[in-house]
Amino acid sequence: MKKFVAMSLVAVAFTIITVKATEAREYKIGFIGPMSGGAAQLGQQMKRGAKLYMKLHKDQLGKHTIKMIVRDSKRPGGPIAKAAAQELITREKVELITGLIFSPNAMSVAPLVNKSKTPVVIMNAGTTFIPNMSPHMVRVSFTMWQAGVIIGEHAASNLNCKTAVAGYTNYPPGKDSINAFRHGFEGKGGKVVDEIPMGGPGKVPDFTPFFQRAKSKKPNCLYVFVPAGNHAAAVAKTYQALAMRKAGIRLIGPGDITQDTQLQGMGSAAVGLVTAHHYHMFLKSAENQAFVKAWKAEYGANNPPDFVGVGGYDGMAAVYAAIRAANGSKLTSAIAMKALKGWKFESPRGPIMIDPETRDIIQNIYISIVRKKGGMLVQETQKTFKAVKDKCKELKLGKCGKKLY
Ligand code: PHB
Repeated sequence: MKKFVAMSLVAVAFTIITVKATEAREYKIGFIGPMSGGAAQLGQQMKRGAKLYMKLHKDQLGKHTIKMIVRDSKRPGGPIAKAAAQELITREKVELITGLIFSPNAMSVAPLVNKSKTPVVIMNAGTTFIPNMSPHMVRVSFTMWQAGVIIGEHAASNLNCKTAVAGYTNYPPGKDSINAFRHGFEGKGGKVVDEIPMGGPGKVPDFTPFFQRAKSKKPNCLYVFVPAGNHAAAVAKTYQALAMRKAGIRLIGPGDITQDTQLQGMGSAAVGLVTAHHYHMFLKSAENQAFVKAWKAEYGANNPPDFVGVGGYDGMAAVYAAIRAANGSKLTSAIAMKALKGWKFESPRGPIMIDPETRDIIQNIYISIVRKKGGMLVQETQKTFKAVKDKCKELKLGKCGKKLY
């Protein structure tokens, strides 16, 4: 009899737990991004992507809902983002943090979530080392080493570049980016003849003195990493103003310098620019065409998506996958990481997967060229590299932005 009562109690408790787990629940998530200041356009794109995913996939969470609490990181440096994350964790009691355009912002959040064990889905920040800083982080965007190595190899092997100058915004993803470029370029026989730090990620500098220094070295190629946004537009303009193409110097880089939302404003300066990246809005897949159509229907024909928007969209798909796994119970890091390690998704950028070992993104990288068609600038894919992992982690090169050579 005692045994029977005990077994019944276990059964009742089990029923209560399962019923509780399937009750409708609101998941509070924190979204950190630049919503004001010079990089506000990036924050807005990321948020637009996240919101579009939510709108198009309402039914995916069943009866559960999401409350997204947006916090403005204002500047690329860490302190404001760190304070925002602290407040989201302790006061708002969010169960997940997402967003994060700039690497120093993402880096500043890592020690906090290591204490609170809050899962993080990174929608943009590209410094290769970031997911190593916390076992609670996954990255759905890109790593600087993915595009950097591939454009470096391509420049040496196919663009007739024997020498290159590398200019970079002087903060962690910039250092990663030129190391990656050098790895790819010199691995295929090229020579980087100068590396030029070009100011920080905040204020857009006057690129003229940096590009003049590059021009004086007479390289075949000028490789440039700057963060997307108004830095990218200024790069193409300075390249044009200094007549560098006429001087026989080809401008190349990761796709941050041909961000779709900046492209039309670059004018003829951008024509012929070759980049490597994981997304541009002209990709021909059915998924991308449907995505671009839905985006323009939501935000207007003159507000196209770009890789930052796709980061927000795919990041939210990952957040949904984590919430579905929690299925009404608290969204712990253990549940989120289990759901997201090895997570696969048919993204507008192509198939993506989170590497279960590194918690970093595996995705296609496209070599593209900018052309003018019907009065518009478009990006044309020339080559596709499938399922690219982060080379720096694969080769175990350590902190990928430190001087490696
Ligand atoms: C970064 O800070 O990691 C970052 C920001 C903008 C980009 C790329 C990387 O376009």
